[in-house]
Amino acid sequence: MDLSLRFRREMDKGLCRDTNPTAAVKMLPTFVCSTPDGTEQGEFLALDLGGCNFRVLLVKVMADGERKVEMENQIYAIPENLMRGCGSELFDHIADCLSNFMEKKGIKEKKLPLGFTFSFPCQQTKLDESVLLSWTKRFKASGVEGKDVVSLLRKAIQKRGDFDIDIVTVVNDTVGTMMTCGYDDQHCEIGLIVGTGTNACYMEQMRNLELLDGDEGRMCVNTEWGAFGDDGSLEDLRTDIDRELDAGSLNPGKQLFEKMIGEMYMGELVRLILLRMAKEQLLFQGKTTAELLTTGGFKTTDIYEKNVAEEGLASAEKVLRGLHLEPSKEDCIATQRVCQIVSTRAAHLCSATLAAVLRQIRDNKAAEKLRATIGVDGSVYKYHPEFSRRLNKMVRRLVPDCDVRFLLSQDGSGKGSAMVTAVAYRFAAQQAE
Ligand code: GLC
Repeated sequence: MDLSLRFRREMDKGLCRDTNPTAAVKMLPTFVCSTPDGTEQGEFLALDLGGCNFRVLLVKVMADGERKVEMENQIYAIPENLMRGCGSELFDHIADCLSNFMEKKGIKEKKLPLGFTFSFPCQQTKLDESVLLSWTKRFKASGVEGKDVVSLLRKAIQKRGDFDIDIVTVVNDTVGTMMTCGYDDQHCEIGLIVGTGTNACYMEQMRNLELLDGDEGRMCVNTEWGAFGDDGSLEDLRTDIDRELDAGSLNPGKQLFEKMIGEMYMGELVRLILLRMAKEQLLFQGKTTAELLTTGGFKTTDIYEKNVAEEGLASAEKVLRGLHLEPSKEDCIATQRVCQIVSTRAAHLCSATLAAVLRQIRDNKAAEKLRATIGVDGSVYKYHPEFSRRLNKMVRRLVPDCDVRFLLSQDGSGKGSAMVTAVAYRFAAQQAE
């Protein structure tokens, strides 16, 4: 069956009260009901956890009608042992970084509102309560799944006692990206991430969100499409290599769609293919090296094949030599081809799910022709030289009746939680009037 249609059914399954408990694609309510209107203002702190870096940001939203946002930020490393160690130590580290940042900026005495971009599947009951369903990507810290991450962060801050903040919102990175782009473009109602992992959110009609009461207005839904296929629905598309990668991953059987697309996985897929081909005497004269045999030996950035054939070949050769192989020209050509196939498949898979989301929005509006802006962020979309072109082209082919615009967000995910916080403040201020 057409993949886009298949995903549309999965979305329905996640949205309906009766089928949600067994749905692979969770369609999580985010409690973000409005995109920015440009009148927001104030000074906000933001935390961004979930991709390759952890960042702390100070975001100033100006109210002079010019839609101006000023931002300062700092990247902090999260050591691997904290990503997969004890959860309370991870949150202590986050509080530590926050304290360091506030100290540097001289704002430790202020009690600023804070938005937390936490890019993992969470069950939210309100803007500032978010229970982690399961870790994804590189994280697997103990004692966090099933807990409210806002309480964990508050506890870690209180324990220190050297500063205080007002945690107002928790948002997914897709939501942050949509909100950041929405500040510049009112038609932005989809947020897309193709980075370490992949996911999307969009503005859904309340009447379709059966899990919540109320039929009026709209709410942003975090699809968590990375889990598409976790119930077996993609088995006809998955290959032996996909299965092998999954079996050796941190979360076997989970995030199967994401494992065909994310930066964390594409390089590894290429490595497994090259290894298999070498073992079958199809490459490198049947030779393998310790590097080729090592998980993570081939980085996704290594497959950012150059457009120009010659340059691409030279870069393939460099990467293979880096793995201590002695490739022939044919080996380099084959490697380049494998990289192309893996990344083209990723772009096309992503366009199928994106097309389903666009059709859902179009049908909700009963519009003949939809004009929609998609806010995008993530390393694969930004840095792979062909990914965005392939994705854009295929989306246009799949939904010719939609006028789609992709808007690349700059630092969207982190800034976005400040944006959500700013919108929440605007509403609170309006209500108080
Ligand atoms: C993973 C997370 C999801 C996030 C995405 C992109 O799929 O589960 O919440 O949006 O990665 O970072």
